[in-house]
Amino acid sequence: MDGRAIFDLSGKVALVTAGGHGLGREYCVAMAQFGADVVLNDIREDLARETAELVRQCGRRACVVAGDVSLLDAVNTMVRRALEEFGTIDILFCNAGIMNDLVPLHELAVESWNHVVATNLTSTFLCMRAVLPIMLKKRSGSIIVTSSVSGFRAIATPEVAHCYGATKAGMISLMKHAAVAYAKHGIRVNAIAPGLHDTKPVGWKLTEEDARRLNDAIIPIIPMGRFAQPCEIKGLAVFLASEASSYVTGQVFVSDGGASA
Ligand SMILES: NC(=O)c1ccc[n+]([C@@H]2O[C@H](COP(=O)([O-])OP(=O)(O)OC[C@H]3O[C@@H](n4cnc5c(N)ncnc54)[C@H](O)[C@@H]3O)[C@@H](O)[C@H]2O)c1
Repeated sequence: MDGRAIFDLSGKVALVTAGGHGLGREYCVAMAQFGADVVLNDIREDLARETAELVRQCGRRACVVAGDVSLLDAVNTMVRRALEEFGTIDILFCNAGIMNDLVPLHELAVESWNHVVATNLTSTFLCMRAVLPIMLKKRSGSIIVTSSVSGFRAIATPEVAHCYGATKAGMISLMKHAAVAYAKHGIRVNAIAPGLHDTKPVGWKLTEEDARRLNDAIIPIIPMGRFAQPCEIKGLAVFLASEASSYVTGQVFVSDGGASA
């Protein structure tokens, strides 16, 4: 294989969780642009349908399975629907993630902690658990989890990203364990760790004051001096999903404008 063919995803099926908005939407479109059909999940069916339309505009097939991926039944239904529709899953993006309430750790409600852990970390486990048997049978597959620089750094947002960062660190650990365990079975597992991408997250209710504080805290520590545009994540997604990364597993790929350099 040579040239651009190493990035070709023709004939592949990608499953993207939380594909209705932000980075998940970028992953879906990137997969379709490089030839994959896409199963896309989101807790918001309306957003998932919008993304499905973008996938179809790329000439690929899209299947929407709305549901909350922190729940076992929803994940099993999603994977069953993917198999009914496309017969297999080659690429899995564990992308669902939400921020915790923006309060100091000692004021964080236990319910908020549990909700964030379930949405970010438990969902990753549930999706891997449901999709790995399919990949094991075909002895191939690529799993990509969306972690965050908060998974290994606290410096920029120490007061706000505590629980969120803990889940993102957990995702990195889970990714590494799965990568080592399944390497001999032809399955690669990697993480993308974005810095701040300007996705205007749907579940993150920032007051103007919060936004200003975040801006003031983070922009000065980014060597590139700006947040990323959502589409700037697509290159890593295609690289990790495709044969271009055939000898790459167990790694974290940071996209943060040099902030953690
Ligand atoms: N945007 C950033 O700067 C940034 C930085 C680092 C990491 N991340 C991570 O990237 C991922 C996507 O973030 P984003 O900024 O695109 O968010 P976003 O808010 O733009 O989109 C998230 C999507 O997830 C869906 N969703 C929420 N809970 C869900 C659930 N339980 N099941 C299914 N879908 C659910 C929402 O409806 C929404 O469509 C998250 O894991 C986030 O932690 C984002």
